Order: sequence, then structure tokens, then C-alpha cells
Amino acid sequence: MYILGIESSCDECSAAIVENGKKIVSHIIATQVEDHKLFYGIVPEIASRLHSEWIYNVVQETLSASKLTLNDIDAIAVTTEPGLMGSLIVGLSFAKGLAYSLQKPLIPVNHIKAHLYAPQLEFDVAYPYIGLLLSGGHSLICIVRDSDDIEVLGTTIDDACGEAFDKVAKFYDLGYPGGVYIDKMAQDGDAKAYHFPKPKLKHRGEFDVSYSGLKTAVIHQSHQFWNQKSEQNMANLAASFQRTAIDILLDKALLACERYKINRLVAGGGVAANSYLRQRLNAQENIQVYYPSFDLCTDNAAMIAGLGYHNFLAEKLGTWQTNASSRSQGLHKAKPQNRP
Ligand code: KG4
Ligand code: ZN
Repeated sequence: MYILGIESSCDECSAAIVENGKKIVSHIIATQVEDHKLFYGIVPEIASRLHSEWIYNVVQETLSASKLTLNDIDAIAVTTEPGLMGSLIVGLSFAKGLAYSLQKPLIPVNHIKAHLYAPQLEFDVAYPYIGLLLSGGHSLICIVRDSDDIEVLGTTIDDACGEAFDKVAKFYDLGYPGGVYIDKMAQDGDAKAYHFPKPKLKHRGEFDVSYSGLKTAVIHQSHQFWNQKSEQNMANLAASFQRTAIDILLDKALLACERYKINRLVAGGGVAANSYLRQRLNAQENIQVYYPSFDLCTDNAAMIAGLGYHNFLAEKLGTWQTNASSRSQGLHKAKPQNRP
């Protein structure tokens, strides 16, 4: 079964054809990074307008690269939540139009669940696993029992992990997207040069995290770290910040593996491209770790088409009334566990 996936929830305009939820037949990701660089962040109106301009060509090129025709496509899967409303609506309306004209099923897909499904396109990961989603808009620790059965253990109570990377990079004028530049700069730095605070969330769930304190420390206390803003100091700062930002989420995800006795961990989302995170994941001895290749970490339509296949099998189909949602409706939070 061939599913055409469409992703336009943020600043990547992407389409993919995936066979039986597994094999990527063709995949195009058109990124808007250059168009938002000047603003050090995504400008929602620019994002929606560009999706509107690009989506036809992105889908057309994906089809051409696949050597299939629209008649070979069995269903259209599309991201409906969460994301930027204007951007989501472009992809959804395009997908609806296509599904209507072909008289093929429309499959709504949750973007967060799709990130946690992404490694299944490259590996056979047995369920259940602990999911660790780190992106520009989301930070989440969860139990993934099946592709569409996800129990959230904890989230960020303020900034997302990638957002913290982007804001720190913006403050120091390092480049956009911040995570990419901080990661590069950190290669020459000493990750133990500065000791940044980790959040202690006494009145929150055990697996919740926070990034605003770390961000504030790195940005507003910079004068305490050095007398001179040298290149080496900056590299040390990048490495120390990166280590703390990743440790905050990863330590909790590893704790979740221990607490729920699940020895499989899957990382996904843009920050899953981070080299320090990958180093730490690779060093795990008692846990099987999986993270997608770079193209499947960032927002992409292959993960949408992949998960769309399972939604199709489960008969979770859309209608002509299906709408987009800026927030994630399809995830539920776990009841707090009694700590041992
Ligand atoms: O998943 P994604 O492409 O978009 C969202 O759904 O948000 O994630 C984008 C985020 C940005 O915040 C970017 O700075 C971060 O991923 N990122 C990284 C790296 N590459 C991208 N963060 C840390 N290290 C990286 N190598
Ligand atoms: Zn994403």
C-alpha cells in the first residue's frame, strides 16, 4: 500500500511516499530556514505563505522521484496537529483537495506521534519503548505502547529544549537554527567549564522538565562567566549549556526506563540530531537506543506517511470536516506513579 504523506506544521514543507508504513519510496523536504534566519525564529505568516507557494511543487517532485502516478497512491496522510495553525491548514487543505479529486482516504496524523514513529522507518523497534521527543516546539517523555498508544510521563513546563538552544544562540548571535550552531561550536569547548543549574520541580511530576532557568542563567548571567568574550569562552559556554540542556531530558528519560522497566529508548525531533545526545545514547550499555538519521529527526513527511499507514489499518480516517489543531489533542498524560 502506497501512502502519500504531507507535512507543513512548521517551517519544513515536505512530501513522501511510503510503502506499507516502512519503505520510503521518495521523500522531499523543502526547508524554509533561510527565510526565517533573519528573524532568528519562525515567522508564522511567512511560513504559511511559503507553504502555499511550495506545496504543489514539493508533492509533484515527490511523485516524479517515485516513478509512481497519483493513481498508484492508496491514501493521503497529512499532519493535522500540533503546529502553526496557518501552516497546518495549507497542508491539510491541499491533502483534502487531493484526496477528494482522487476519491482516496484522507488520514489525519499527529506530528508528535509521528516523530516517535520515525525510527520505525529505519529499524524494527519492538513496543513498548520509552519515547524522548526533543524539538523546537516540544519536549516530552512518554511510554510508547503502540504507534498510536502513547502515555505522556512528563513535558516541559515552559520552553522546549530546542527553543532554549535557539534563544541562547539568538542572544549570542551564533546563527539560526541555534541548535546546529551551538552543537558545532561546542566541539571545541570544555563542557565542564561552567556549571549551570538544573531545575528542581518539587511540585510537578517526576518526569516534567523546565528550560527557562537554564536559559536565563546562560543569557543573563553571562557577565559572571568571563572577563572577556573570547572564542574559547564562547565554545566553553556552548558546550556547558549543551551538556546541561541534554542531560536535563535524557536523565529523566533514562529514569523512566528504569522506573517502568522498559529497556528500549527512542529519541526523535530536531534536537535528536545533537552530537552530545547521540554520544550519551551510544554509551548506554543496558538499554537499546534508537534515533533516526538526520533527515528523519527534523520535520519530515516520511514519518507522517509511515504512521498514516497504521492509522489507516486502525480505521482512523479523516472526513471532509477534519480540521487542524495548534495543540495536540491525541495524547494523554499518565497518572502519577507511587515512587518506590
Ligand atoms: O523537530 P524540528 O525540526 O522542528 C520542530 O518540530 O520544532 O526541531 C527544530 C529544533 C530547533 O530548535 C533546532 O535548533 C534544533 O531542533 N536542532 C538542534 C540540532 N539540530 C537542530 N539542537 C541541538 N543540536 C543539534 N544538532
Ligand atoms: Zn517536529
